[in-house]
Formats: sequence, C-alpha cells, structure tokens
Amino acid sequence: MKNNRKYHLVTFGCQMNVHDSEKIAGILESEDYTETDNPKEADIIIFNTCSIRQKAEQKFYSELGRIKPLKKKKPGLKIAVAGCIAQQEGNRMLKRANFIDHVIGPQNIHVLKDIIKSRPEMIAVGDNPAITEMELPVYRKDPVRAWINIMYGCNNFCSYCIVPYTRGREKSRALESIASEVRKLAGEGYKEVTLLGQNVNSYKSSVNFPGLLKELNDIPGIERIRFVTSHPKDLSNELIFAIKDFDKVCEHIHLPLQSGSSKILKLMNRKYTYEEFLDNVLKLKSEIPEIAITSDIISGFPGETDEDHRCTIHALKEIEFDGIYAFNYSPRPGTKASLMDGHVDDDVKSSRLSEILDLQGNITELKNKRLEEVFQEILIEGFSEKSSSKLTGRTRTNKIVTVPFETQIKQGDLITVKITKAHRHSLEGSTLLRFT
Ligand code: 5AD
Ligand code: SF4
Repeated sequence: MKNNRKYHLVTFGCQMNVHDSEKIAGILESEDYTETDNPKEADIIIFNTCSIRQKAEQKFYSELGRIKPLKKKKPGLKIAVAGCIAQQEGNRMLKRANFIDHVIGPQNIHVLKDIIKSRPEMIAVGDNPAITEMELPVYRKDPVRAWINIMYGCNNFCSYCIVPYTRGREKSRALESIASEVRKLAGEGYKEVTLLGQNVNSYKSSVNFPGLLKELNDIPGIERIRFVTSHPKDLSNELIFAIKDFDKVCEHIHLPLQSGSSKILKLMNRKYTYEEFLDNVLKLKSEIPEIAITSDIISGFPGETDEDHRCTIHALKEIEFDGIYAFNYSPRPGTKASLMDGHVDDDVKSSRLSEILDLQGNITELKNKRLEEVFQEILIEGFSEKSSSKLTGRTRTNKIVTVPFETQIKQGDLITVKITKAHRHSLEGSTLLRFT
C-alpha cells in the first residue's frame, strides 16, 4: 500500500548523476513514496546537483529560488540537496539557504532512507569507503537499457576539474557484485548495460577492465555492453582488443581529448601528449575500422593562445571524431587551474568555442553521410519524441536512427536497418530484415 507521500526529483549533470538519481528514486519508492512532476504536490523535493561548470551551478540556484516560496506555504515540506554542489558546500549550503533541510553528498545517498524516517541528520558529506559494497535499490524507467556503477571517484586531478573533490578517490566495485547485478538485469529483460565510472579503464578488482568486460560478455540475455568514461592515458592494447574481440562490447569509445595542444594538456595535468593521443586513435581505427570515437574539448583554458587553439582545430580535422561535447573553460573553486595565470577573456573563449562547434558539426555530418546506404544493427528504444509514427534506436556506434513504425517491432528488439538519410544529429533508416 502506498503511503500517499510524494517526491519530486530534479537532476542536473552527467550520467553518473542520472544514475545516482535512479538510486535516490529507488530508496524513496522502496519507502512507498511516489514520484510527482509537480513540486507543489511533493512532500520532499530533492535536487541532485552538478558543479562541473559555473552554469550548472547557476541553474540549480535559480531552480532552488523558485522552490523557496513553496516551503512557506507548506512547512512540512522537506528540501534535500544532493550531488556535487552538496558535497562541495556542505554546511555553507544551509547558511546560504536556511530553508534547505538536508545536504547529501554523492557518496552518501544511502542516508536518505534514515532522513525520511526523520533522523535529524542534516548533512552527510563524509568520505564513504563502503560505497562499493552498498546495494541500494535502483528505480529504472527504461526497461531495455541500464546504467550500472563499476567504480566511484577519481584520482586524476586534472587541474580544471572539481570531480576529485566532490566524488573522492577511486574505488572499484567487486567483479561478483557487478556481474550479479548484470545477471539480474538480464533476467528482467534488459538488453544493454552501460558501465559507469569517472575513469572506467583504470578499474581494478580481482580483474582489470578488459577482464571485467570478458566476464560480462558471457552473461546470456545482455546483447550490448557500453562504458563511459575512458581516460586516454589508460587506453591499453588489451582494451582495444577487448572492444574488437568481445561480441557484445559496442564499437564506441568516449575519449576526452580536452585540447589539441600538448602544452595545454600538460597544464591540464592530463598525462598524455597530443601525439600519444593520436597514436591511440590510429590504433583504435586500424584494429576496429567501424569504431566511433567521441570526445570532450575545453575552450579557453588558462594560458591558451591562438596558436594552441589552432592545434585543437588541427586535431579535430586530423582525428575526425564522430561527435564532441565542447565547453568554455569555467574556473572551479579549489582547483589548480583556477589559480593559474593567463585567464582567457570570455568573448575569446566563446568565439573559439563557436569555431570548434561549427567545424565539428560539419565533420559529424560528413561522417554520418558516409553511413548512407549502409546496413546497421539498431536496438529499438521506443517511439520517437518528435513523431508517434516513428521508432528510434541506436547503432552499436551510439548513433540515433529513426525508422517508420511497424506493429511487429517492439521496444528492446535488435533489428537491421538500411540508413537512408543522414543528418547532423541523427540518421533515418528503413527496416528490411529482422532478427532477435
Ligand atoms: N570547465 C569546463 N569544462 C570542464 N569539464 C570539466 N571541468 C571543466 C571546467 N572547469 C569538462 C571536461 C570533461 C567534461 C565532463 O566536462 O571536458 O571531460
Ligand atoms: Fe557529474 Fe562531475 Fe557534474 Fe559531479 S561535477 S555531477 S561528477 S559532471
């Protein structure tokens, strides 16, 4: 029996946060709360926040401001702030906004269970070494594709990045615990799993990351295995061969370059040069010709000259990524880069960013065009958001394809389609053959 209590959950940030929100929802659902889209109906409002760039922070604070009047109207309403801003701000958050009831860092989601049973524990931002052993309930809305944590935290301390400060040191989850979650998901009908970690290729338990992929590849029912994010410095030949040889491991890797200038990469503390990165890309492409490689780029890191920016432009042309996420550099309090000399003006950052995005847009479109008339296997995700007469799915290389609706095709089916038209952000296909 549901207890009529409702929760409203707002998520910002990366896939790690999206999955953390599935655990937050899992805890609340297991305590008989139901989700509501309407904050006015809620008994508890949870913000799962991101602090990777200042803009993400601002978005949260403006949403928080909009919620404040609700608390006055409904004094019993609880407001909880989770995620990376919560971790960073801790106590300061309560001082800044005294209508907040709870502050819960990303390593302490489990305390939510106690909080709703009204333990007065308002702040939970300590280091949690037991995080890898915590089996929290997960409330997944997608019945076909699942996120799953394989490791937590980060040891790399890239000089621009807040993550090591908000998510703590690297901790890998045990192989058996991951494998049993994947087996359970397969039993529930899931077809695809995405292994999550800040730096998945430095995974280490009784096996290394390729060893983990090998174990998971043998689990019946799961058809596709993806993983994010990989650090270029840890891209081993063994991993390249794992992608090549294990049939369920998809031919896609997200490999953040950040800058095409080795001078800037050094200042970023990335631990590879552009030439080493390129070497890895060439190896990946020669062993797995169909592989899609996506990346992240930061525009206007401190000390970035026009010449460094030209190196990034050159890199994008030389590598031909399938897609990138690119952002202006945003100084984060407490990071080394925020204290460096040579901060770049915002308008210079933005004009460099536009050049990066325009160039990459053309490259992405060109690469997609090369798929016209080619057969691709797609996993059907459901109806297209834009049209109820179309279905969408993704290729193994993670490209979105829309196909005309046919009654015999269901969510979770793997079908072969012929790509008929390529656009910048998606592909259109026609269904010809069918197999599962
Ligand atoms: N400013 C801009 N972009 C950043 N990223 C991480 N920290 C910052 C920052 N301070 C980007 C990186 C990373 C992605 C997740 O976010 O490109 O790979
Ligand atoms: Fe994810 Fe990093 Fe944002 Fe935290 S700060 S939510 S780890 S992107």
